[in-house]
Amino acid sequence: MASLTLPIISTNSSNSFSSSYVKHFSTSPSKPTFPNRRTGIKVTCNASNSDPKIPTDETASSKKIDGETSLMKFDRRNVLLGIGGLYGATSFGANPSAYAAPLSPDFAACHDSTDPDKKPIDCCPPGTVPAEVPTYVPTATKVNTRLAAQLVDDNWLAKYKKALTAMRKLDDSDPRSFKAQANVHCAYCNGGYYQAGYEASKLILDVHFSWIFFPFHRWYLYFFERICQKYADDDTFAIPFWNWDSPSGMFLPSIFKDSSSPLYDSLRNSNHLTKVLDLNYDGTDTSDSTITVIKNNLITMKKQMVTQSTTAAAFFGKSFLAGDASDPGAGTIETTPHNNVHRWVGDPNESHGEDMGAFYSAGRDPVFYCHHANVDRMWNIWNSLGGQNFTDSDWLNSSFYFYNEEAQLVKVFVKDCVNTKLLGYDYQDVGIPWLYSTSKARRTGATLPSAPTPGEVFPTTLEKTITVAVKRPKKVRTKQEKQKSEEVLDIFGIEYNTGEFVKFDVYINEDNPSESGPEKTEFLGGFINVPHGHSMISTTSKSFALTEVLEELGADNYDTILVTLVPKSSTVTIKGLKIKFDNTKA
Ligand code: C2O
Repeated sequence: MASLTLPIISTNSSNSFSSSYVKHFSTSPSKPTFPNRRTGIKVTCNASNSDPKIPTDETASSKKIDGETSLMKFDRRNVLLGIGGLYGATSFGANPSAYAAPLSPDFAACHDSTDPDKKPIDCCPPGTVPAEVPTYVPTATKVNTRLAAQLVDDNWLAKYKKALTAMRKLDDSDPRSFKAQANVHCAYCNGGYYQAGYEASKLILDVHFSWIFFPFHRWYLYFFERICQKYADDDTFAIPFWNWDSPSGMFLPSIFKDSSSPLYDSLRNSNHLTKVLDLNYDGTDTSDSTITVIKNNLITMKKQMVTQSTTAAAFFGKSFLAGDASDPGAGTIETTPHNNVHRWVGDPNESHGEDMGAFYSAGRDPVFYCHHANVDRMWNIWNSLGGQNFTDSDWLNSSFYFYNEEAQLVKVFVKDCVNTKLLGYDYQDVGIPWLYSTSKARRTGATLPSAPTPGEVFPTTLEKTITVAVKRPKKVRTKQEKQKSEEVLDIFGIEYNTGEFVKFDVYINEDNPSESGPEKTEFLGGFINVPHGHSMISTTSKSFALTEVLEELGADNYDTILVTLVPKSSTVTIKGLKIKFDNTKA
């Protein structure tokens, strides 16, 4: 078997990355505000739920909650005006985007969540919610190091076991119990909370498919780790990360395999205990060799972290504002590998891939926290490569509630979690082996067959492979134009069943996807849903960055490009797709 030679890049020297990677990111220190998706929509004071005049393309969607359909055919700012302006009342002015609408859950009114069989399930935190909940701002005085799971020693493992054993023994009525901690995830993604201010329209707050994915999970792990510290009796303890972006970490970490350990969970895919992890897993095991899977995984990481993550919206996910009824759109890492890994770990013999393969149950498997630590580490790495966080106040002021290690309820804001050193932790430097991995174009300058336009095909149900020829708004842009804005393929109006595992793949200028795959430049990536309850139809979108891909394919001078969608698991309905520019790059 050939051996892989992998360059090791230091993650500690944050600003010394190779200049060839600088071009992917903004180098300008001043980052413009992420534009409000609805700036172009006229604000009226008398719009209502049934107002037919408001555009419905991205702002409206129907979301069935508790069997009802809540048609949100209005702009959320209309609601704010209508009820006298809940937020940002002093900033009402000529600029419609000034109406702030940061998300927050209606925590006190937690109600039953639903599992993917639509069965009610009580995931609410135990105890009563006090009238006043203090805001918590971390002020760490020391920085603990989260270690790679494959590198921890026995002494460290004993501490983790001690903590988890104690948490598993705590009464369910204690919010620090392992069960209550697992249910935090269930309540925040299976419909346990309405958005504060939108209880009447039953708009739920789901922490996936949008820009709050990273900050929510960072805070969740933060409190989980502090509870572990308390029960390990060691405030220097830090949770491990599943280093799935590195060849030595591309297996289920061995610390989770001992069936007599509190780190064990029996509901896992038993075929995957010794198999290499496939970061593009679609529910079927690949027949590729271990070395091929590892190489493809590294290329996948490079695509997701660099090629496809050229804007904040691409990396974090799209903006999710109070009043939004649809799932705005997941970021690169949330989609792949985050979702794939959930599916890969979960037990396929369970009806929804429990535990890890469904969000209501994922937190019951201790590997969940290890998986998410690496997701969180990707945020730090993306920043170290030059990626700039959102500066939008709606993102910064979004908030969540958690119980801390003393079982006290606190409110936390996104703005207070953007720097992990202030949170008291950092990640072990284990290098970034994927940084120099590159995909190969299967063909460059390929002559493309003719295909119907998107208008001739969409809306449609994706039951078989679909290829369309999409006109580009502009070809051969200047270097400056490319630095300023990203050319984006936007697949919008994706209607999917939230209770199903869904996957479809997207190729560009590839009329023969069976010849292609994740290692090829033609493979842009996939759309994936991990079952998260309700089994309702929800609407979302998925975007892909094209600028670098088109250059690599020798297709920058093409008027039209070929987009091919390949269904892999479950069917979705797609409203349409288009190419546009995202100006938030520089
Ligand atoms: Cu909240 Cu891995 O998902």
